[in-house]
Amino acid sequence: MNLPDRRSLTALAYQVGPGRYYQPAYRFIANDIAVERGAVLDVGTGPGWLAIHLAAGRAEVDAVGIDTCPHMLRFAEANKAGRLNVTFHRMDATKIVYPDRTFDVAVAVQSAHHWADAAGVFAEVYRVLAEGGRFYVYEADPDADVPAEWIARRGGFPPDLLIKRQWARFGMDAARWSALRAVAEASPFGPDVGDETHGFCRRLVCTR
Ligand SMILES: C[S@@+](CC[C@H](N)C(=O)[O-])C[C@H]1O[C@@H](n2cnc3c(N)ncnc32)[C@H](O)[C@@H]1O
Repeated sequence: MNLPDRRSLTALAYQVGPGRYYQPAYRFIANDIAVERGAVLDVGTGPGWLAIHLAAGRAEVDAVGIDTCPHMLRFAEANKAGRLNVTFHRMDATKIVYPDRTFDVAVAVQSAHHWADAAGVFAEVYRVLAEGGRFYVYEADPDADVPAEWIARRGGFPPDLLIKRQWARFGMDAARWSALRAVAEASPFGPDVGDETHGFCRRLVCTR
């Protein structure tokens, strides 16, 4: 009997868990980025929701989500429900198979804590961004309060306690965050990196 591998179970858990209850968060982030036209790259797209929200109702946006995990990408394909202006590819963010200056905006949500080579990701995203383009990097802040309107709950699930536990495990504490920021500042984006708070996330804003 073939048992499912661990990555396929993780992808399934993400699809039915965070991928569902973070729907308002994806919407807040997409509306905040507010790109009305052009090409947008979602780095570490997972089940694809940010790319889908960025493209929804914006016919002049072409959203591309990349991820190394084929199981996540299968969910992303299903979640996009035939939407024509969203495309997903299996691709490592340190080896993006797009020409220089392809994208107007890039974003990574809760992906950076996985990056084995963050310097490689910043360098590669810089390469594929157009002049003046921005790379937004969001990570959950384990010390943030849980903003009720950012989470869709059913019957009180997930409770704040579970969410905070996940942020402690899958977000970035202050030390990891400043280490990531240092990597961004040492990258081709240069030292002028914005460091902001949005909802329960910290975010870096890197401008090419
Ligand atoms: C916690 S999930 C977040 C998914 C999605 N951004 C969201 O917020 O729902 C992190 C994703 O980053 C992907 N990832 C990690 N390192 C990557 C890399 N170097 N290139 C592309 N994807 C990567 C993982 O495969 C995983 O699907």
